Order: sequence, then C-alpha cells, then structure tokens
Amino acid sequence: MDLKGRDFLKLLDFTTEEITYLLDLAADLKDKKKKGIPVDTHRGKNVALIFEKTSTRTRCAFEVAAHDLGMGTTYLDPSGSQIGKKESIADTARVLAGMYEGIEYRGFEQEIVEELARYSKVPVWNGLTNEFHPTQMLADLLTIREHFGRLSGIKLTYMGDARYNMGNSLMVACAKMGMHFTACTTAKYFPAQELVAECKAIAAQTGGSITLTEDVKAGTGDVDVIYTDVWVSMGEPDEVWSERIRELSPYQVNKGVMDNAGEKAVFMHCLPAFHDLNTGIGKEMGERFGITEMEVTNEVFESPQSLVFEEAENRMHTIKAVMAATV
Ligand code: CP
Ligand code: NVA
Repeated sequence: MDLKGRDFLKLLDFTTEEITYLLDLAADLKDKKKKGIPVDTHRGKNVALIFEKTSTRTRCAFEVAAHDLGMGTTYLDPSGSQIGKKESIADTARVLAGMYEGIEYRGFEQEIVEELARYSKVPVWNGLTNEFHPTQMLADLLTIREHFGRLSGIKLTYMGDARYNMGNSLMVACAKMGMHFTACTTAKYFPAQELVAECKAIAAQTGGSITLTEDVKAGTGDVDVIYTDVWVSMGEPDEVWSERIRELSPYQVNKGVMDNAGEKAVFMHCLPAFHDLNTGIGKEMGERFGITEMEVTNEVFESPQSLVFEEAENRMHTIKAVMAATV
C-alpha cells in the first residue's frame, strides 16, 4: 500500500483497504510508542498546522505525532495568519508547500480544504471542517476495533445533530467498514439525502447499512456503540442554543439509552463534551435553561462503558499514521 503524496480530506476518498491499512499502521505505531521504540523516520521534515477554529485534541495530536516522527511543526492560530483576510487559500497553499512537507487545515467549509489541496504540491490533511472530521474517524474506528476486535457488523447509533461533521463522517466511516449506522434524532437533524444515498450505495457493497429513525427505543436497542457530539458546533451562532436544547434533549445519551443498548454497549464522543457544569458554556446554559448536562449525562460519561479517553488518545496514534503514510 503506497499512500505517499495523498491528501486526507474525507474518508469518501479512501477505499476500505486503504482505511484498514491506516488503522493497522496506527496500531503498530501505538504499540511501538508503548514499548518506547522510537519511529523518527521523518527527521528533517516540517508540517504546518492551520487552525481557523480552536482545538485541544487535534492540535496536540498533530504536534506530538509530528515530533515523534522527527518532524518540526508550525502552529497558525485562528487569528495569527494572513489566510482569508490578506491572502487567498490558493496563494497560502503555494507558499506553505514551498516550506513544508505537509499541511493540516481546520476550518469552515469543506470546499476550503479541498481548494487548499488543489493548489498544494504537498499532502493536505483535514483537521475538521463543517462537513467532515476524517482524522477523528480513524481514532474512532481504531478504538472500536481495539474494544470489539472487529469493525465489520458492528452496530453504531449516533444521537444528536447528525447533519454536521460528526454525523456525516460516522455514516461514511460505517458504510466503508461494513458497519451498521443509525442516526437516531429528530428528522430535521438527519444527514443530507445525497450523502445518505451515497453511503447506502457504499454499504450495499461492504455489508453495512444506514438507518435513519426518530424512535429512541428502536434506534438504540441492542447496539454496540452509542455515539454523540455537542448540540452546537464551533462556528454556529449562539442563538441556536435554545432550539437545539429543546429539539435534541429527547436524544440525550443517558442511562436509559445505555440500558436499552445493552451491557456490551460502549459510549463514545469526539469531545469536548457538555456532561456537567464545569465549563464556561455548560455553566451558562445551566443558568439559562436550568439543565446540568446536555448531550450526555455525567453518569454515562464517567461510567465504565465510556471509551472517550481511549478514543482521545487514539487521535495521536492515528494522525501519526496519516502523516507517516502520506509524507
Ligand atoms: N475531537 C476534537 O477534534 O477535539 P478538538 O476540537 O479539541 O481538536
Ligand atoms: N461537531 C463539533 C465537533 C468537535 C470536535 C464541532 O464542529 O464543533
């Protein structure tokens, strides 16, 4: 398998075999890291990390992974570069490609990262757009595979805003890997019809399936993975909070949902999560709407069924695999 020079913009661009190769590589890099075996195969190379939205996991994962591989990093924060304001994406791509061996981009529309990749002669990696979060998918797939020993046939239910980056990406990831994806939410938050149709066609080839339901009992009954994400994503206006809380509260992941899924079920979340009042926004929403938790209860988040911190660690091992394979 040779992925040298390839961009990593969305999982739709990759075959099941290529995704499996990246997961195997990540598992190997993780094993070596645990054993203290250095893999600094990319010494002397450098990568640029563009963040037009904030980040904890993705930024740290790229930085640590790059350093482990022997590469240098430059972090361009949401306000500290000329991008968009004084310099176009096309010009930025050609400037950075002259100095770096790879470019990570986190920002708004998918079209921006696609354009960056069109103009860059070095690989471009999508660190999250409004539409997709593909590096998160590799971490999630690795976590599920580590826990259940397989991906094919695994049933994953996503609750909450399924029409944004996480819902879209999980639907694609499940379709590609022969898994059974259910979006369990109110119909307004179902993924776009064209993407659903595309994923159904992929799933028909891999043995997976795509289901959309508003029924919590049916959608979460006897599933392996219950997944959720914040109800309001980065870049969305503050005004949407009240309608999201009203419309998505019936799709909160709580003990009733986990019990319905069964003992074997695990809970996953890309993080950050609103599961208590220990964050600025959590506290503000608590005061405004009289709630103490949002998309997931603290009980589920802190339960033995929760894999969220294993998942977060796997961001680093999988991002390392993407850089090692493509640079
Ligand atoms: N899951 C995730 O992408 O987290 P950050 O926003 O902290 O990078
Ligand atoms: N849907 C979330 C994911 C964060 C990792 C957001 O875009 O803010």
